Amino acid sequence: MTGVMNGKVVLVTGAARGQGRAHVLRMAGEGADVIALDLCGQLPGVAYKSAEPTDLDETAELAREAGAHVRTAVVDVRDLAGMHAAVASAVVDLGRLDVVVANAGICIPRAWDQVTEQEFEDTMGVNVRGTWNTVMATAPHLVAAGGGSIVLMSSSAGLKAQPFMIPYTTSKFAVRGMAKGFAAELARYHIRVNSVHPTGVDTAMGSRAMLAQVAKASMADPRLRGMLVNMQPVDGITTEDVADAVLFLASDASKYVTAHELAVDAGVSEF
Ligand SMILES: NC(=O)c1ccc[n+]([C@@H]2O[C@H](COP(=O)([O-])OP(=O)(O)OC[C@H]3O[C@@H](n4cnc5c(N)ncnc54)[C@H](O)[C@@H]3O)[C@@H](O)[C@H]2O)c1
Repeated sequence: MTGVMNGKVVLVTGAARGQGRAHVLRMAGEGADVIALDLCGQLPGVAYKSAEPTDLDETAELAREAGAHVRTAVVDVRDLAGMHAAVASAVVDLGRLDVVVANAGICIPRAWDQVTEQEFEDTMGVNVRGTWNTVMATAPHLVAAGGGSIVLMSSSAGLKAQPFMIPYTTSKFAVRGMAKGFAAELARYHIRVNSVHPTGVDTAMGSRAMLAQVAKASMADPRLRGMLVNMQPVDGITTEDVADAVLFLASDASKYVTAHELAVDAGVSEF
């Protein structure tokens, strides 16, 4: 621990488990206080298990053990009024807000002609509208703090088309564009905005149930399976690998990095 986040308050969505939990613990371990938000309920349409309130409690407990003051809230990122209320109350408790990691997301792989209208709407609702809501509910607090860093979680699917997940790819390209738009308009307030683009990560979203769904969808055109292969000889990466990149963007080590797309993708986007 080097204390690079001492004195900072960070907010993470999708914090109950997976990458969101890893971001919370990495930054808490560096001295940050934490606002951890999650739906903790049934995710629409996904093949993998949903997070539960006990998962968010466990994230909070681990962050407290690392020395952080922690506030949690069960809230749906699709609910802008709910996000405003949860963020405002936690910021009053912890005194300020410096860093936002808009991490909540879902993925429902299907061949193009199997995607339902509902699945498209759910994916855009959580991944795009939910990310926009997160920035809208938090950016005013960063303005009040005199600046900060916002990290939007995209995917390698936001840099290079990934087959068998058109709604997800669409949403993650949108998140990448959203980061650049906010970066331009928030720069005058000393707020940096960047996007992060991981390859497959060992979380519930990267679970066996999910890989089976991708494999099934890819039967529609097996030639395209190679588009999902990493350049480096690894099948996937860990939540800690992504958390290291997020810590860099959250900390002052990246003070002149903005509107940047940081690939933590083992080269899949260039392969
Ligand atoms: N796992 C991967 O292979 C991978 C690769 C690239 C990018 N990503 C992205 O990383 C982010 C984190 O995913 P993960 O791998 O940790 O998955 P995960 O399913 O383990 O965690 C996602 C968390 O977000 C929460 N969440 C989902 N919808 C929500 C909503 N509407 N409101 C509030 N919380 C909500 C879930 O409850 C869950 O705790 C996502 O944006 C995902 O698209 C994942």
